[in-house]
Amino acid sequence: MRNIILCGFMGAGKTVVGKELAVNLGFEFVDTDELIEREQGISIKEIFEKYGEEYFRDVEYEMCKKISGMKNTVISTGGGVLTFERNYEILKKDNKIIFLEASFPIICERIANDKSRPLFQDIEKAKVLYEERSKKYLSVANYRIDGDLTVTETVSNIIDVLNLR
Ligand code: S3P
Repeated sequence: MRNIILCGFMGAGKTVVGKELAVNLGFEFVDTDELIEREQGISIKEIFEKYGEEYFRDVEYEMCKKISGMKNTVISTGGGVLTFERNYEILKKDNKIIFLEASFPIICERIANDKSRPLFQDIEKAKVLYEERSKKYLSVANYRIDGDLTVTETVSNIIDVLNLR
């Protein structure tokens, strides 16, 4: 295994869990959204507003290529990344993919008031996307981990499932 990749819906805790997991394992940590914002010099929200989702997905794809050479890194992916076959084809190689699965009500508690996520501005639409995406995350992941728990519990569960203790 070279890297641990966290996927899952917006608000599942990929970034916060990923950071803590990396500290625990002595791994590097990267977040695809953070890398994209740094590279583009504007926020994800602004990228959607100015250039549209299709452009963002292409930038995301290019970012997957860039990070594919990393080693010993916990990679937190934006919620859409692993729903696209072309990204999965790049990221699956030698890496372990973890589906962080939080329930929809918990996700709402965490991010319903957050204005920074363009695809979580309408709860009904987000719920439809959540249902569609869940199947995709499940089909690409090596492991499925409960994302409703605390960060400490979740990190501990990931370390156990990967046998890294
Ligand atoms: C998206 C999720 C976001 C971000 C963008 C699109 C998605 O990341 O990449 O707003 O399609 O689910 P988080 O999952 O970190 O919120």
